[in-house]
Amino acid sequence: MTSMTEQNRVLIFDTTLRDGEQSPGATMSHEEKLEIAALLDEMGVDVIEAGFPIASEGDFAAVKAIAENARNSVICGLSRANLADIDRCWEAVKHARRGRIHTFIGTSPLHREITVLTQDEMVERIHATVSHARNLCDDVQWSPMDATRTEHDYLCRVVETAIKAGATTINIPDTVGYTAPRESADLIRMLLERVPGADEVVFSTHCHNDLGMATANSLAAVEAGARQIECTINGLGERAGNTALEEVVMAMRVRNDIMPFSTGIDTTKIMNLSRRVSQVSGFPVQFNKAVVGKNAFLHESGIHQDGVLKNVQTFEIMRPEDIGLTAKNIAMGKHSGRAALRAKLADLGYELGDNQLKDVFVRFKGLADRKKEVYDDDLIALMQDTASTGEDDHLQIRRLRVVCGTDGPQEAELTMQVGGSERSIDATGDGPVDATFNAVKMLYPHDANLELYQVHAVTEGTDAQATVSVRLSKDGRVYTGQSADTDTVVASARAYVNALNKLHTHQNRVNNTALMNSAG
Ligand code: KIV
Ligand code: ZN
Repeated sequence: MTSMTEQNRVLIFDTTLRDGEQSPGATMSHEEKLEIAALLDEMGVDVIEAGFPIASEGDFAAVKAIAENARNSVICGLSRANLADIDRCWEAVKHARRGRIHTFIGTSPLHREITVLTQDEMVERIHATVSHARNLCDDVQWSPMDATRTEHDYLCRVVETAIKAGATTINIPDTVGYTAPRESADLIRMLLERVPGADEVVFSTHCHNDLGMATANSLAAVEAGARQIECTINGLGERAGNTALEEVVMAMRVRNDIMPFSTGIDTTKIMNLSRRVSQVSGFPVQFNKAVVGKNAFLHESGIHQDGVLKNVQTFEIMRPEDIGLTAKNIAMGKHSGRAALRAKLADLGYELGDNQLKDVFVRFKGLADRKKEVYDDDLIALMQDTASTGEDDHLQIRRLRVVCGTDGPQEAELTMQVGGSERSIDATGDGPVDATFNAVKMLYPHDANLELYQVHAVTEGTDAQATVSVRLSKDGRVYTGQSADTDTVVASARAYVNALNKLHTHQNRVNNTALMNSAG
C-alpha cells in the first residue's frame, strides 16, 4: 500500500533542453547544455529530458554527456515512433545511472493523416515501438502527441496498447495549448477510469501556453491524478512556451492547503537557474513574469510599500529567499573590501576560492570606479561574464575606440592580439557595434553566422551595465559569448570575441584530431 506522501509526490520532468531548446532562436551550445543539466540535477529535478538524440550529432553528444555526468536525475531522450530513433536514443541515455526512452507519435486525426496510418496500423506501430524500447530500457515513456484533440475512444485504445507493450509513464500532451483546466482534469480522470492497467503507470501532463493556461492546465491534471508535470525553466518553449517549472512548483508549495502535493525541488535554486537559462537561451524574462520576473517582489505603489513595511504578508505570498533571491539588495561601492565582496557573493550563491576571488575583486574594483553603486544584479552580471578571463585566449582585445553620432560614418579603431601578434585596423559600419564587429572580422576573418546579438540593461540609470549575448553558428555547432560592461560597445566586442575564441578552440581541436588520425 502506498502512503499518502508517496501518493501526493509529483515528479518534475524538465524539458528545457529539449522542448525549450527547440524554440526558434533558443539554441544552446554543448557546454551550456551541460551546465544547465548540472544545475537542474542539483535542484532536484526528477527527470531531465536532455534532447532528441537522432536529430543531430550535436544533440546526441549532448544527451550522452549529460547522461554520463548526471548524479541523481533520470536522463531521458526523445525519439519518434521508429526503431532507428529509439536505438539512437538508447545509445545516448544508456550511459546514465538511470536512463529513460521517451517515444511519441501524433494520434489526433490531423496527425494520423500526416503519418498516413490507419487507426489499426498506428496501434500496431505503437505496440512494436514501445515493446522495442522496453526491451532496451526498463524506463519507457510514451506520448500520444496532440492528445487533447484525439477522439477519446481512440486515445483510450492507444494508451492501453502502450501500457500493454511496457510503457511505464504515459504522458498526455496538449501540443498546441488548446485545452482548458476543467477539460485537462477530465481527460486524465477519463483515462484513469477507462484504460485497463492505468493504475500501474505514472500519468504525466505536458502543456503548452498558447492561451496562457499551461500552468493551470498542468495543476488541474495533477488534481485529477497525473503525477508527473513536464515543464521548462521560465516557460521556455516553442510559440508561447511550455508550462513554467517555477510556477507549478511554487503554486503547489504556496497553496499546499488546496493542492496538497509535494516535489523534490530545492526552490532556493530557482532564481539562479532562471537567470542562467535566460542568458544562454537569449530569451529575456518578462519583468512581470510570475515568480522569477524582475518585478515579482518589487513594491512601487505607496500603499503596497507601506503595507509591506508593516507586515510583508500584506502584499507578499512568497518570500524572495524561497526562490533564492537575496533579501539584502545593499549596494556596494569602490570602498568595499574583499571580505565584504566575498560575503555578498556567498549571499548570491557564489562560493569562491581565494584565486577566483582575487580575479573577481580586480574586476569589481574596475566596475566600481566606473559606476557609483554596484548592485546585486551588477555582481551577478560580473560573475556570468564569460569573456573576462582569457590570458591564453587566441583573440584578446587590447584597445578599442569608436566614433559615432549624428554626423559622418561610424568608425571603430581596434587593436587585437591574434595568436602571437598584435594587429590594428580601422573599420566603418552601420552604427558603432556594426563598425566594431567589422573590425574584428577584418582582423580575424571567419565564415560563422551571427545568429543572435542581444543587449540588456542590468540595472536602472544611464551608468547601468549592459550585458551582451552573442551567438554564432558554423557547421551546425553553436558558439556563444557573454560580456557585461558600462560601455555597450565594449561589452559587445568582448562577447563577440569570446564566441570567436570558442569557435577557434573547437576548430583547433578538430584539426589536431584530423592530423593525429592521418599520422596514425
Ligand atoms: O508538445 C508535444 O506534443 C511534445 C511531445 C513530443 C511530447 O513535445
Ligand atoms: Zn511540447
